[in-house]
Amino acid sequence: MSPESVVRLAVIPGDGVGPEVVAATLPVMAAALAAHDAVLETTGLDWGGERFLREGAAMPADAAETVQQHDAVLFGAVGRPDVPDHELVWGLIIGLRQQLDLAVNIRPVRAFPGVPTKVRDTDGVDLVIVRENTEGEYVGAGGLAHAGSGHDVGIEVAVHSRRVIERAAHHAFELAGSRRGQLSLVTKSNAMRHGYPLWDRVVAEVAEHYPHVAVEAVLVDAMAARMISAPRSLDVLLAGNLFGDILSDLAAVLAGGMGMAPSANIRPDLAVPGIYEPVHGSAPDIAGQGVANPVACLLSGAMLLDDLGHAGAAAEIRSGVADALLDPRHHTADLGGRATTAELGSAVLQRME
Ligand code: NAI
Ligand code: MG
Repeated sequence: MSPESVVRLAVIPGDGVGPEVVAATLPVMAAALAAHDAVLETTGLDWGGERFLREGAAMPADAAETVQQHDAVLFGAVGRPDVPDHELVWGLIIGLRQQLDLAVNIRPVRAFPGVPTKVRDTDGVDLVIVRENTEGEYVGAGGLAHAGSGHDVGIEVAVHSRRVIERAAHHAFELAGSRRGQLSLVTKSNAMRHGYPLWDRVVAEVAEHYPHVAVEAVLVDAMAARMISAPRSLDVLLAGNLFGDILSDLAAVLAGGMGMAPSANIRPDLAVPGIYEPVHGSAPDIAGQGVANPVACLLSGAMLLDDLGHAGAAAEIRSGVADALLDPRHHTADLGGRATTAELGSAVLQRME
């Protein structure tokens, strides 16, 4: 067997429902690869909340090097009620995104037939949010002035640099070109006078390289309304870090909720391993019950295989998921059903066989 046909996967199950959805996903990925003459090789990494409580850090100092010894990372989620959120989110996922320079966060949203949604008439919704992943409002610049004085001032500085906007924009245009040829830039350049007007200018420049892609600029508040009222009018959305984060949770509702939304953190040239993860967090309210919806994680696994060149295996996972979801007996509680995480995972596996 040639070395190319082995996928070396680093697995970070994390906290809460993270390990539950990852456990349902790994056998499906392994089976999909096996059906296409490839092998899944996994390295489990115990990074997350428990490690933080035990060793004072969610991941080791050489975490980025460990990741680079693999082809890609499958990540569940982090977050636990007894650890401040920013310690784990910054200490793990945002930290890794920055250290590996994973410039874009791709968040596709697709309405699967048979899946109930809280928004009416979502048939045919199929959009992708391309979110800038390293700067913007989440760059981490700022501080606390007058700390503890009783009139503390929190300062959070947003950073938008041309290089980073260009990189995300090129990726979004390429993606739009391979889909329906439509790109919507999301900003707030009427109220924020520096960073977002730069986005408008840079994206207009990049657009000249992609004459076959139709581009529009939409303010984020108008986009929030349009996403619910006319979601089929959207193909590829390009957004900064904060707006992309918020809009992708909103968009997930169109597909049936947080349990249905996958994502990929990648560098557009795929020169470093990508981190593939459900959009949702550790869901402490349902963790430990075995009832979390594994679809977001399964579809993240399909994105991962696609990016590694295993398109056949990825397509097999997607069609297995689509088939399983047609039958309400396989729906988990978030979709109004009674299936467990493992049952939905097995249903997908069976349909692939
Ligand atoms: P969350 O996504 O964990 O949960 C929001 C709601 O969605 C909850 O009602 C939950 O039960 C539901 N939900 C989430 N995933 C589900 C699934 N697979 N199946 C069925 N229902 C699901 O977001 P929340 O509550 O804001 O955050 C919980 C913890 O997760 C926090 O500590 C937060 O910091 C962390 N978090 C971590 C992320 C990451 O690791 N990338 C992303 C978002 C939040
Ligand atoms: Mg989010």
